[in-house]
Amino acid sequence: MRILLFSGKGGVGKTSLAAATGVRLAQRGVKTLVMSVDPAHSLADSFNLGVDLFTNATSDPYRVNDFLDIHEVNIQREIKRHWREVSSYLVSVLRATGVSDVEADELAILPGMEELSAMMYVNQYRREQRYEVVILDCAPTAESLRFVSMPTTLDWYMKHVFPMQRTLMKAVRPIANRVSPVELPADSYFANMLDLFQKLDGIDELLDDPLQTSVRLVTNPERMVLRETQRAFVYFSLHGLTVDRILVNRVLPEAVSDAFFVDWRRSQELLLKEIDEYFAPVPVQRVPLFQQEVMGLALLERVADVLYGSGEDPAAVSSLERPYTFEKRDGQYQVRLRLPFATKGEVGLFKKGDELVVQIGTLRRHIGLPVTMAGLVPARARLENKVLTVELREVA
Ligand SMILES: Nc1ncnc2c1ncn2[C@@H]1O[C@H](COP(=O)(O)OP(=O)(O)O)[C@@H](O)[C@H]1O
Ligand SMILES: [Mg+2]
Repeated sequence: MRILLFSGKGGVGKTSLAAATGVRLAQRGVKTLVMSVDPAHSLADSFNLGVDLFTNATSDPYRVNDFLDIHEVNIQREIKRHWREVSSYLVSVLRATGVSDVEADELAILPGMEELSAMMYVNQYRREQRYEVVILDCAPTAESLRFVSMPTTLDWYMKHVFPMQRTLMKAVRPIANRVSPVELPADSYFANMLDLFQKLDGIDELLDDPLQTSVRLVTNPERMVLRETQRAFVYFSLHGLTVDRILVNRVLPEAVSDAFFVDWRRSQELLLKEIDEYFAPVPVQRVPLFQQEVMGLALLERVADVLYGSGEDPAAVSSLERPYTFEKRDGQYQVRLRLPFATKGEVGLFKKGDELVVQIGTLRRHIGLPVTMAGLVPARARLENKVLTVELREVA
């Protein structure tokens, strides 16, 4: 199963390009699902369906045609389905602090639950082999980063915190519940966590494999949007995901000759050149600004024509360069991370257990080292030609 993740700043055109990609794949006879993970759902609008998928009573995907399904993840329903114990614990804690029932329900939606729910679906579809391609129409960049970092965070939590917490709770709950102002989590809370964790089993390998998962970063030829795209590229790389295309949407078409747009065109041309150079060797594609909003099948097909011509396979892997590799060069063990746009001052690095922890700004990634390298410690690191190389050596 192929996974295509469309990510980028709000409003750049993620939903439109994701939907167009789904339309083209379906036309080629590929069983495809487009799933919206953005709480600001607009997938159904993009297809101009005139049905409300979100409040639709079932949580099954909506069938557009024989080869194309679409799905908008509804977090309230997902909570009922997957998160009952986790959220009822949170609700009880929140109530104890004095918030009303309705507010407690709202507040008990933890950041990341929506993303995790979507990921459970992806994992389920993979097991069932229901789709050949799943396209994820992601929330704006920050949330999609949370999406991809969630399995490692959860993995870390389950390995390091969960067992201890659970044992501890069993011992202290009887006494503590009498004195503690908030209730301590019941064992069902932990059982639920464990169950959720098992539902995510294997998703990490899926996301890390460039043959299966590709990120398509959507951007606009505007300075501020581009900055966010560069950050996103770094963070996705840091999390082991491969960005295989950059899609620059809303490029002013040649036909626009009005004097009003002269400066716009000049700045777009400059930025387009920069974008090509910045992201090389990752292919960059341009999509023009259309004369109207991209809504309905006919317009989505036109977008697909721009993106994929008449014969290109939208699911083809167009960049295989792994964001990080483990190597032995000249007898020296190395971890190499592709981090374009990262600057020296902002990269932090340390070793914790058998993991190498890389930090960029506020984001952290625990990279599990292969057995041969797990006992080594970082000796030197350098950031050169878009690559961070960490040399590891034996403990002296
Ligand atoms: N190339 C384009 N030309 C004209 N309108 C566009 C284009 N790309 C997107 N749009 C319109 O811009 C709006 C935002 O696009 P959307 O795909 O919903 O962005 P996102 O999902 O990134 O928030 C929508 O109304 C969409 O129809
Ligand atoms: Mg959208």
